[in-house]
Amino acid sequence: MLYADPGRTQFATYCAACHLNDAPGMAGEAPPLEGSSWVAGPEDRLIKIVLHGLRGAIRVHDKTYNQEMPGFGQVLTDADIASLLSFVRKRFGEASAPILPATVGRVRAATRNRTGYWTVDELLAEP
Ligand code: HEC
Repeated sequence: MLYADPGRTQFATYCAACHLNDAPGMAGEAPPLEGSSWVAGPEDRLIKIVLHGLRGAIRVHDKTYNQEMPGFGQVLTDADIASLLSFVRKRFGEASAPILPATVGRVRAATRNRTGYWTVDELLAEP
């Protein structure tokens, strides 16, 4: 029986338009997730990026990007973000334990006063 991974569908809906830019002419729109240290790195940082968005210079695979990514904290639940990021880690990162909804809830609560996008410096200043 085919098992549909909800994270795969969520990724296609919310992330792929910018991050799967394999098509000619699309390269350089958004940084790649494949092999990115942000994908394989601490789960709190990844969760923050998806909750609130990201702006400013970021270096991925020896290339600097300086654009903006919107946050999805208003439209995605803790469970959505957990399954989505678990898929992202499996697909683009190294094998790792799934990200749990409770972890997303903890990060969401800890950053509930956050309104603006994150910058790399802010993300690196915390775990
Ligand atoms: C509207 C386009 C857009 C969408 C949709 C989008 N991103 Fe991004 N993303 C970006 C851009 C642009 C950056 C780099 C921002 C910067 O330059 O500071 C980025 C950066 C990132 C990074 C850190 C850099 C890297 O390549 O590892 C991660 C991780 C990430 N996005 C994950 C996601 C996930 C997961 C989703 C779906 C929930 C998503 N993004 C949806 C445009 C987008």
